[in-house]
Amino acid sequence: MFLLHGICSFLKGEFFTPSLSREYPAIFHINIDKNFRGFSVGSRLIEKYLNFLKEEKVCGVHCVTISEEAKTFFTKAGFKLLFKIKSTFLRFRLYRDFTCYIFGRKL
Ligand SMILES: CC(C)(COP(=O)(O)OP(=O)(O)OC[C@H]1O[C@@H](n2cnc3c(N)ncnc32)[C@H](O)[C@@H]1OP(=O)(O)O)[C@@H](O)C(=O)NCCC(=O)NCCS
Repeated sequence: MFLLHGICSFLKGEFFTPSLSREYPAIFHINIDKNFRGFSVGSRLIEKYLNFLKEEKVCGVHCVTISEEAKTFFTKAGFKLLFKIKSTFLRFRLYRDFTCYIFGRKL
């Protein structure tokens, strides 16, 4: 089932993402423990990371997420929506489609 849905999604182009390595070479992933969300831990971590990238003269950073909540978090951190694509890949498991978002920020 997993493989079949994976192949269908692939053929529909749902795994396509634009190349961001030139303008946004750094990537950011974050997952705060549920018990510690909403206490500015994420904001402080991202601020430190962005400062580090600036010191290292990295020109941009991007992140990939399917989380609707994270959209506000990234927008507030100065990221812009670069790309989004709907995916049916996990429909058999989640009983719904989801949207994959790519956010980026120039530094
Ligand atoms: C998204 C995530 C990183 C936010 O971290 P956090 O420490 O809880 O966020 P902060 O407390 O620093 O919040 C900063 C801002 O983000 C926004 N925000 C954070 N969580 C939010 C939520 N659940 N819904 C809407 N906005 C949210 C708010 O605008 C908030 O500012 P405010 O407190 O002034 O309102 C955290 O919830 C998380 O790890 N989620 C699960 C994993 C995930 O989605 N990762 C992103 C993909 S890489």
